[in-house]
Amino acid sequence: LKEIPIFNALSDRYIRHLSDDFIIRSVNKGETIFYQSDNSTDLYIVLEGAVKASLLNQDGEELILATFCKGDFFGEMSLLDGKPRSATMIAVDDSILGILRREKFLLAVKNDPMIAIDLLSALVQRMRMANGMIESLAFLDVSQRLVKLLLQIAKTDGDIDRNGFFRIKKLTHKELAAHAGASREAITKVMKVLAFKELVKEEGGYFLISPNAEDVYNE
Ligand code: CMP
Repeated sequence: LKEIPIFNALSDRYIRHLSDDFIIRSVNKGETIFYQSDNSTDLYIVLEGAVKASLLNQDGEELILATFCKGDFFGEMSLLDGKPRSATMIAVDDSILGILRREKFLLAVKNDPMIAIDLLSALVQRMRMANGMIESLAFLDVSQRLVKLLLQIAKTDGDIDRNGFFRIKKLTHKELAAHAGASREAITKVMKVLAFKELVKEEGGYFLISPNAEDVYNE
């Protein structure tokens, strides 16, 4: 538990005590952990794997709000205000989750109020990310949002090929749409234009992104 940022201030003795309160749940890749609008107030911690918070519309279109990995928590919104879940949580990989009941979390905060401060600072960080997403949706078109997304992935998970192109593992157009806040059809259209301009190429299992891709911001 000490590896979980919001709990690392707790004393070893209390950590041992709190560990007993966690319910462990394993979920398979693609499995839904809970749905938007569900009524539950438990806090979840990712112990292994990765999960995403998504909004889904009636046509099954998805907008991914955030992805959480080992050490991250989620479910704090319903825990704090008692209202229904604000998003659907889905496992991105096979994952192991620790679940803490609301009362147990409140007891931990009472024992060490620093937990509440750490939780607040994580919430502020999430708000900054959400503002970034609002800014992109309001001010960038689909093509710009897509290039921004591909370059972001390239920075964290990509490498550079011998021609100076960024190389990232290919995603489906549906996945790109869910990350960029666009329809799959719009992404397919934009990908064709980007390929025609030789800004994004598909090769084997990879996307190659030209160092000039940022030009889409200046057109
Ligand atoms: P809760 O509403 O209880 O259940 C869904 C969870 O998704 C929510 O708590 C947060 O943990 C997470 N979540 C919802 N919206 C966002 C967002 N904009 N950014 C990051 N995480 C979010």
